[in-house]
Amino acid sequence: MRIDIISVLPELIESPLNHSIIKRAKDKGFVEIHLHNLRDYTLDKHKRVDDYPFGGSAGMVMQIEPIDRLISELKKERNYDEIIFTSPDGERFDQKMANSLSMTQNLIILCGHYKGIDFRVREHLITKEISIGDYVLTGGELAAAIICDSVVRVIPGVISDEQSALSDSFQDNLLAPPVYTRPAEYKGWKVPEVLLSGHQRKIEEWQLQQSIDRTQKLRPDLLK
Ligand code: ADE
Repeated sequence: MRIDIISVLPELIESPLNHSIIKRAKDKGFVEIHLHNLRDYTLDKHKRVDDYPFGGSAGMVMQIEPIDRLISELKKERNYDEIIFTSPDGERFDQKMANSLSMTQNLIILCGHYKGIDFRVREHLITKEISIGDYVLTGGELAAAIICDSVVRVIPGVISDEQSALSDSFQDNLLAPPVYTRPAEYKGWKVPEVLLSGHQRKIEEWQLQQSIDRTQKLRPDLLK
């Protein structure tokens, strides 16, 4: 899989995608992530990528030209399954969307910034708009990093123990059950007896019941 991320602040995305599981996924060739600085695609001598809005309102607006130039160059090289724009008014991101994006070959993610973006970009170049939640971030970079992280970790093979990704919270609309490790007792706080029993079927039943109980208590909306 290949992900091209377009941003005016690519430095913001570098670190979160260069550690742990995502770094290993890159090193093992499961994913290529390419960061592109939009300023490298403007013809303006001051490398400006924004301008005042027509009709006048607060803030600057990202211009279409550098974005179109870069996206056109990328599209000449390969077909893209989706050209994503990160925006608080996009479709809400969830595990199902992460799973489905992990099955694609090529993605572009354009990070929104400033007050907005020339709407023609969204009308003519973008195929999918994603919001990571009902709050407003300074820019789309952190949203892009979150989307990449959750997509890459569910690419088949990325997590060696496949069970591990499949048993995440949300994969079956249930929150994950609690986990414990040694010591079995600390300051009198005990690990549930059943987990020490070695009885696999009982352990799985307990884990499922815990998942159901925790979901009912904390996220009843997932059970609907
Ligand atoms: N850009 C700013 N806020 C955002 C959000 N909530 N989701 C995705 N992109 C954003």
